[in-house]
Amino acid sequence: MKKINLKEDHLQIYKRENSNVWQIKIKLPHKKALRISSRTKVLEDAKNIALHKYNFFIKERKNIDKNSEKNFQYKKIHLIESKNLKKNEIECFLIESNKYIKFNKQNIKKSNLLKGRTVFNLFFEDSTRTRTSFEVAAKRLGADLINVALKDSSINKGETLFDTMTTINSMDPDVLIVRHPEEGISKKISKIVKACVINAGDGSHEHPTQALLDALTIKKKFGSFAKLKIAICGDILHSRVAKSNIEILSTLGAKINIIGPKTLIPKDIQQPNIKIYNNMKAGLKNCDIVMMLRIQKERIVGKHITNEKEYFNKFGLDYKKLGYAKKQAFVMHPGPMNRGVEIDSKLADDVTRSLIQEQVSMGVAIRMACLEILINNKDKYGS
Ligand code: CP
Repeated sequence: MKKINLKEDHLQIYKRENSNVWQIKIKLPHKKALRISSRTKVLEDAKNIALHKYNFFIKERKNIDKNSEKNFQYKKIHLIESKNLKKNEIECFLIESNKYIKFNKQNIKKSNLLKGRTVFNLFFEDSTRTRTSFEVAAKRLGADLINVALKDSSINKGETLFDTMTTINSMDPDVLIVRHPEEGISKKISKIVKACVINAGDGSHEHPTQALLDALTIKKKFGSFAKLKIAICGDILHSRVAKSNIEILSTLGAKINIIGPKTLIPKDIQQPNIKIYNNMKAGLKNCDIVMMLRIQKERIVGKHITNEKEYFNKFGLDYKKLGYAKKQAFVMHPGPMNRGVEIDSKLADDVTRSLIQEQVSMGVAIRMACLEILINNKDKYGS
């Protein structure tokens, strides 16, 4: 066999006895040797092809090594709650999202950062934005994403949720993204699996990636949180988005006005930067942002609201009520919206005042950052 060393033992070209075509062998330290055909019989061409391939693999390796050295301020492998997140941990997600905002504006949106990683979407409740944006995020980073069709799963045959989770865990996933109507379920799952767990909404409890994407949207518009007054309006009692936003936005330094009917405001909100109002005119005064929330019809038990028209008149946001806030105040809504119940349809679509589509766009960037940070931490610190 003819053999030529081009980079000592790391790069060789060789010809087998029974072939005229040059073969390439690349052996990087601590990696299995890679053998590929140069598809040429000409020695000089084979050398050039081999060097080109070698340089490509070295560059890829450097990218992988660079990433594995990353030391993020957020060091946990799960993202379950916004409660107890420190300011520098929240900022870590916002800072890392910036590069993905730019990346998502490119024509070709494909990276190999998470190539070979496996992400499971486990949605036990309906979702459009969260489920699809995690799918887009994972695929743009090169990961394999599996949407588990839980409506057709063995849960219907009586399998417990925890048996389903341990079954999926045995397939060695990297991340499980869980939405479930039961409060605290993501935390319980995180204790029995090796994969990273992201809470994509657990009942009326928390939805941390929604609050992070809301914070990113606000940061992009206003730059900082210190002087901001943000109104969060509507069904606070049943809203996991409200709970996560109250934690994250107040930790970032914003003042928060909670506005809604008495029956839809939890009794236990007592934080220095938060004021509670049952009247839109008083609550919206001097606000920079008005975040409207959906009436969570599926979670409302008993008579929290009398009728939708009356609710809209008192607590629904239209141009008139937006006029009680600052002149240039912006409107946000996590979606899905009940048009004409908590928000006027025209106002929701008014891109000069509404950040709703921007929120969806930021959702992809923040979820890309979440996947990168958690998988990096799993590699670095283990499960
Ligand atoms: N905001 C939000 O969680 O939307 P989906 O229910 O569509 O995921």
